[in-house]
Amino acid sequence: MCAKQFFSIFAHINNLTSKQTGMNYTNLLTEYNNGILVVTINRPKALNALNQQTLSDLRQLFSVDALALEDLRGVVLTGAGEKAFVAGADITEFTGLDAQGGLDMAQNGHDIFFLIERFHRPVVAAVGGYALGGGCELAMACHIRVASDKALFGQPEVNLGLIPGYGGTQRLVQYIGKGRALEMMMTADMIDAKKANDWGLVNHVVEHGKEVEKAIEILTKIAKKAPIAVAKCIASVNAYFDSQKDGFAQEVIEFAQTVKTEDFKEGASAFLEKRKAAFQGK
Ligand code: CAA
Repeated sequence: MCAKQFFSIFAHINNLTSKQTGMNYTNLLTEYNNGILVVTINRPKALNALNQQTLSDLRQLFSVDALALEDLRGVVLTGAGEKAFVAGADITEFTGLDAQGGLDMAQNGHDIFFLIERFHRPVVAAVGGYALGGGCELAMACHIRVASDKALFGQPEVNLGLIPGYGGTQRLVQYIGKGRALEMMMTADMIDAKKANDWGLVNHVVEHGKEVEKAIEILTKIAKKAPIAVAKCIASVNAYFDSQKDGFAQEVIEFAQTVKTEDFKEGASAFLEKRKAAFQGK
């Protein structure tokens, strides 16, 4: 089932309307329906490798264009073609890279992946094939990962004489622990979707081809919840991993902010009146 068919099935339970976004990118395809934006990295001949243009497209999307979508409730990030989510940074752009270039490259990747990790709406990676190097790192920057049963995850940078440079040494440890992360990075071995699920790297494994559908299903469920509260969940959980922040203190601040919202009044009233809440995101 393609994303469009899936949207039409879910349209009846979601009162957000279909909209054209006017978004236009060199290497991304976008489809926006019912508050959910499906973003497809579209370089299938290069297994959707992240070249500078694709990174720049992602930066534009997450720092400008998606913020302008008033009714946005979530983003699905996926890769074009049958074989890959993203097979890493584009190795053809490595020629002539010097130390300063390496610093710039890694910092640029970090900045863009933080935009995704700190995005105020949930971002779900739908991984249908290879998620290697920067591709695994991109999936890890998303809030939730759905893998197809053909997905493969790996950090093979040591094969190239590199280490992961887009946050992989940090986020992989967060998901699967130090020993497993170090083994994956130092051996460059790939793990399949089942092992990724067993180890906590992915949230769900589905039949190949159903990963976008499952991601939309998750976001459709979240879309019915209070949007500000959802955003505060993301911010509070991120604070746990931010060395500049005290996560517990951040939770207190975020909790107090949700108490100020109209949605809190509506949610509590709806519970007491035994009806479904109609959240406005205010
Ligand atoms: N960059 C650029 N091109 C890539 C690529 C990449 N990361 N991965 C694959 N491609 C290209 C191949 O060069 C090939 O192009 P041509 O048809 O023009 O030759 C095309 O995609 C198809 O790839 P293969 O023929 O290699 O396909 P395969 O099925 O035999 O192998 C694969 C698939 C195992 C994923 C293999 O392509 C591979 O090992 N790719 C590189 C993976 C990698 O090392 N990723 C890490 C990059 S470094 C990084 O990401 C650093 C960081 O942390 C930021």
